[in-house]
Amino acid sequence: MSDFVRVVEVGPRDGLQNEHALVPAATKIALIDRLSACGFQVVEATSFVSPKWVPQLADAEDVLAGIQPREGVAYPVLVPNAKGLERALAAGVRHIAVFTAASDAFNLKNTNIDVNGSLERLTPVVEQARAAGVSVRGYVSTVLGCPYQGHVPLGDVVRVADALHAMGCEEISLGDTIGVGTPAKAREMLLACAQAVPMAQLAVHFHDTYGQALANVLACLEAGVRVVDSAVGGLGGCPYAKGASGNLATEDLLYMLEGLGLRTGIDLQAVTDTAVWISGELGRKPASKLATVALAN
Ligand code: HMG
Ligand code: MG
Repeated sequence: MSDFVRVVEVGPRDGLQNEHALVPAATKIALIDRLSACGFQVVEATSFVSPKWVPQLADAEDVLAGIQPREGVAYPVLVPNAKGLERALAAGVRHIAVFTAASDAFNLKNTNIDVNGSLERLTPVVEQARAAGVSVRGYVSTVLGCPYQGHVPLGDVVRVADALHAMGCEEISLGDTIGVGTPAKAREMLLACAQAVPMAQLAVHFHDTYGQALANVLACLEAGVRVVDSAVGGLGGCPYAKGASGNLATEDLLYMLEGLGLRTGIDLQAVTDTAVWISGELGRKPASKLATVALAN
C-alpha cells in the first residue's frame, strides 16, 4: 500500500463558508497563497454557488483573480449547477467539485432539490466540464448521519457515490458533514463504497464535532484510503448543517500522518503558522491542538 497520502486542503472553502462576518477577499487570497506555499497539491479555493445561499463566498471571482497560482497546485471550486459551471469556466477554473448528499432531507436544505434531482441536475454539468478538459470531484454529504433525517442507510451512500462516479467524477469524497461518525462505522462505510468505486478514487472528509475525525481517518487509512480532506486551523462547517462544527484540522492530521511514517510533501510548520495566522484574522483561538501548542510557546 502506498505510503503517500494526498491531503486536500479545504479551508478557504469549507472552512470559511460558515463564517458569519464577511472575510475580506484580500484575507482569503492571502490564505490561499500561504497554503499554496506549504506543499499541498490541492487547495479548494471557493464556491460558485448562489451568493444568496452562501454570502460569504460571493466574492469567488475576485478571490480567484487575486491569487498567485503555483505550478503543481490545483485550485478546485464548488459548483452546484449549470450557472456555477458557467461562472467557473469564465474565471478560467480547471478543477471543479460538484456536491450532493446521501439523504434527501439534507440535500433539500443545502441545494433546494432532492438527491435524485441533484444527480439529474449535475449530469450535464459534469459532462460539460469534462468536455472542456476540467477535472471533476464529487462530494457525497451525510455519509454517516444526517442532521434532519438521522440514520442514513449504507446502501444510499454507496448508490450516490456510484452514481457520481458513473457520471464522470474522477474522485469521490465521502463527507461526514456533521461529524457523527465513529471509526468502525467510518471504515464499514468506506469499504462498502469501495465495492462500487475503486479505493484509489475515494477520499474521506470528516468534521470533528464529536472529536472523532482523526480516529476515523486512521481507521480509513488502515482500510486503504489515501486521500484525506482537512482544513487549516480546523475551520469550518456547513451553513445548512445545524450544529456541524469544524473540519478535521490539517495540522493535527499532518502530525498524525508524520507519526505513522506516511508522506504528504507538506510542511507541517508552515501549515501550523498559517493556522495561527488565520485564526487571528478571524479573531478567535485556533481549534487545532498543534496551533494551540504553537500559540502557547
Ligand atoms: P435555488 O434558489 O433553488 O436556485 O438554489 P435557482 O436556480 O432557483 O436560482 C435562484 C437565484 O440564484 C437566481 O437569481 C439564480 O440566478 C441564482 P435571481 O434570478 O433570483 O436573481 N443562482 C446563482 N447565482 C450564482 N451562482 C450560481 C447560482 N445558481 C443560481 N451557481 C442552489 C439552488 C443550488 C443554487 C443553491 O441552493 C445553492 O447555491 N446552494 C449551495 C449551498 C452550499 O454552498 N452549501 C455548502 C457546500 S456543501 C458542503 O459544505 C458539504 C461538503 O463540505 C462535504 C461535507 O462536509 O459533507 C462539500
Ligand atoms: Mg465539509
